[in-house]
Amino acid sequence: MANLRIAVVGLGRWGPNHVRNFASLAECEVVAVVDPDQQAREKIGNLYPAVALHDSLESLLSEETCDALVVATPTDTHFSIVKAGLNAGMHVLCEKPLTNRSESAWELQKLAEENGVVLMVGHVFLFNSGINYLCNAVREQAAGQIYCLNATRTNLGPFRSDVNAAWDLASHDIYIFNQLLGARPVSVSAVGESYLRQPVEDIVFITLFYPDRVMGHIHVSWLDPKKVRQITLVGEKKMITWDELANLGPITVHDRSVQKEPAYETFGEFQLLTREGDLMLPRIPASEPLGAQARAFVDRCRDGELSLEARGSARQGAEVVDVLEGVDRSLQQDGAAVEIHYGG
Ligand SMILES: NC(=O)c1ccc[n+]([C@@H]2O[C@H](COP(=O)([O-])OP(=O)(O)OC[C@H]3O[C@@H](n4cnc5c(N)ncnc54)[C@H](O)[C@@H]3O)[C@@H](O)[C@H]2O)c1
Repeated sequence: MANLRIAVVGLGRWGPNHVRNFASLAECEVVAVVDPDQQAREKIGNLYPAVALHDSLESLLSEETCDALVVATPTDTHFSIVKAGLNAGMHVLCEKPLTNRSESAWELQKLAEENGVVLMVGHVFLFNSGINYLCNAVREQAAGQIYCLNATRTNLGPFRSDVNAAWDLASHDIYIFNQLLGARPVSVSAVGESYLRQPVEDIVFITLFYPDRVMGHIHVSWLDPKKVRQITLVGEKKMITWDELANLGPITVHDRSVQKEPAYETFGEFQLLTREGDLMLPRIPASEPLGAQARAFVDRCRDGELSLEARGSARQGAEVVDVLEGVDRSLQQDGAAVEIHYGG
C-alpha cells in the first residue's frame, strides 16, 4: 500500500509536533506544510528539506497531491480549513476543539460521512497511557459506581484571543469525562472571568451534570502560577487520581471508601465509616500521546475505519463543541444551569 501523503497546516507552538510525529512513521510521508508566517515555514524547511512550503491553503490545494490534512491552526480558522480539505477528498485530523460553533462542527461531521473520509479530532488525552489506565479501571468497575470527577488544568499561559480558557483547555477534560463515563452531560453550569483581554474568559469553573447523578467539575485557567494537570475520580469502592506531572507516575489508586453501617439505635438510619486501605501506584509505560494519535489516524485512513465511536471521531468532537456552547450560555447567565443541546 502506498504511503499516506500528509500536509500539516499551522506551524505555531503545536503544529511542528505533528510534523515530527508524522515524519517518524513509516507508513506516511509529510509532503507539505502551510503557514503564512515565513519564519515558521523556514524552521520546518531547515529540519525537513524535502517538505514543500506553502504560505496558504489555496497554494497547497492547487499545487500538491495529498491524501490527508493535519490542521493545527487557531480554533476560529478550523471550519474553513477542514471543510476545504474534506471537499478536496482528503482525510483530516483537526486539532481540538473541532470548531467554535456547534452548527459548523456537525456540518463537518456530516460532510466527512458523505465523502467517506476520516475526520478525526485531536483529543490527544485519550492516547495518554495514564488516562487509558483510568478508562480501563472504570470499564472493569474497579472503583465501583462513579460519584464524581474533578479536573484541574491550569498554567500561566499560553493565552488565546480566539477562544476562552474553557474552549482551549476544558475541551480536553470534557472529552475525557465523556469517554470515562460513556455518557454525555445533560446540563452545565459555569462561572468565569476575563481579566487580561475582554471578553475572553481566562479562568472558568465548570460543573457538568451527567445522567445518574454523576457530577463532573472542571477548573481551567491560563492565569495561574502553577501548571496542574489533574483528575480525581471518586467512586463508591475506590478513588483514583491522575496527575500528569507527578514524579512517581501519573496514577494513584486509593483503596479508600465510605461504608454505611446500620445504626440500630435509630431504625432506618446509617452511620458512615471511612475505610482506609492501601495506596497503589501502577506502572504506567511512558509514551508520547501525540505519536499514538498520529499512528491511529494513519491506520484509520489506510483501513478506511470510519466508526463513529472510534477515539476522536468527529461525532465525539462535535459533542464536545455542544457542551462548550452550553458553557458559554451559562457564563452569559452568571452560572445558571443550562440544558445542553446536541446537534447531529
Ligand atoms: N492537543 C493539544 O494538547 C494541543 C496543544 C496545543 C495546541 N492545540 C491546538 O492546536 C491549535 C493550534 O494551537 P497553537 O498553540 O499551535 O497556536 P499558535 O497560535 O501558536 O499557532 C497557530 C499557527 O497557525 C498559523 N495560521 C493561522 N491561520 C492560518 C491559516 N489560515 N492557514 C495556515 N496557517 C495559519 C499561524 O501563523 C500560527 O503559526 C489550536 O486549535 C489548539 O487548541 C492542541
